[in-house]
Amino acid sequence: MKARDVVVVDGIRTAFGKAGEKGIFWNTRADDMAVRVIRELMRRNPKVAPEMVEENVWGATTQEGDQGLTLGRTSALLAGLSDSCSGFSVDRMCAGGLTAVTAAASEVALGACDIAIAGGVEHMGHHPMGATAVPNPRFLTDRLVSEDALVMGKTAENLHDMFPEITKEMADEYSLYCQKKTARAYAEGKIQKMIVPMTVYSKEGWVVADRDQQPRPETTMEGLAGLKTPFRIQGNVTPGNSSGLNDGASALLLMSADKAAELGVEGRLRLKGYAYAGVKPEIMGYGPIPATKKALERSGLSIDDIGLIEMNEAFAVQAIIFMKEFGLKFPDDPRLNPLGGAIAFGHPLAASGPRLVIHLLNELAERPDVRYAMTTMCVGLGQGATAIWENLKR
Ligand SMILES: CC(C)(COP(=O)(O)OP(=O)(O)OC[C@H]1O[C@@H](n2cnc3c(N)ncnc32)[C@H](O)[C@@H]1OP(=O)(O)O)[C@@H](O)C(=O)NCCC(=O)NCCS
Repeated sequence: MKARDVVVVDGIRTAFGKAGEKGIFWNTRADDMAVRVIRELMRRNPKVAPEMVEENVWGATTQEGDQGLTLGRTSALLAGLSDSCSGFSVDRMCAGGLTAVTAAASEVALGACDIAIAGGVEHMGHHPMGATAVPNPRFLTDRLVSEDALVMGKTAENLHDMFPEITKEMADEYSLYCQKKTARAYAEGKIQKMIVPMTVYSKEGWVVADRDQQPRPETTMEGLAGLKTPFRIQGNVTPGNSSGLNDGASALLLMSADKAAELGVEGRLRLKGYAYAGVKPEIMGYGPIPATKKALERSGLSIDDIGLIEMNEAFAVQAIIFMKEFGLKFPDDPRLNPLGGAIAFGHPLAASGPRLVIHLLNELAERPDVRYAMTTMCVGLGQGATAIWENLKR
């Protein structure tokens, strides 16, 4: 069976809120956030009737409560897609949403369906990381992984140990650039157009959630230097050089290139290839390096062919080792996260993968000079995820 070309037609996300009672989505259900995004994709793409969507795939790390009951199916029903639309949910922690995208794209590529929605949602306020998981005690008693592997911030401290030349000051400097880039992108109106406003109930009554809550444009090196290091006494990882704990949803509309042509809709990105790779759980932030090497090799490309990279910055140190490995310029390479990254926007686990693709969709529309681009992220318990995209707006 020959694989068909799969294209991304559109993508949208909610604002990313801060997790917890002060967060803008505290009184909002996770599945309603997924529904808001699906309905907006349908509204923005009138040539795609709801009954044409055949598959709805959603990533979520915690699949219970308002993220339970097979989100892919429940959100399709709640969003008013046809009863005939099938759906399922996947979990690959931080890369859950990217896995939903590559799973749905693979279905389209093999002709199992023509049009799919793929997204990710995480309400880390309702579902704190790992809160209800019961890790097998053998992980620790049999020393299969170190205790550090279960706390992501500690895995970032381990990366600082592994690469002692990457100092706390470098992590802070990287984070400062990230915040500045995000502030500039907001000032230029580049972020607002990727966000679907959502009316939510808050302590102040009904309000519209249309901006990310986490960015800190006022960030300075001095402010960063004074922050606590919650994962290790006198460590290197701080709230300022980490992604945060957030609530959000994001999704893409995918279809075969043939279907897009038939409907007269514009395919904006083509999935060129993807790969996932495992690394030691204690250094999970290393994951994007082998995943990227594998994805590049299998796509017949080299890093020099990639004009734009959207990387999920779980922690600054993890982004810096990637830059070092692939020869990107520290602290700010024009090819990497030009609008800033998760240190500013936040990282609602499974929602982050599609968020990266949405950034590419918007950036590449103005970059006809870039043919290939990449989304990459690290994954808890030691994985990396990389997808390579071809810019069709050239
Ligand atoms: C690092 C972490 C523990 C911090 O959590 P938190 O304490 O709730 O974070 P906050 O946003 O309240 O920030 C803590 C403090 O740092 C300050 N701060 C954060 N970023 C700052 C910045 N850029 N500049 C100045 N101060 C900053 C806050 O103002 C706050 O100060 P306060 O205590 O005086 O109010 C949490 O964000 C975390 O666990 N991140 C990693 C998430 C993760 O593992 N994801 C999965 C990846 S694989």
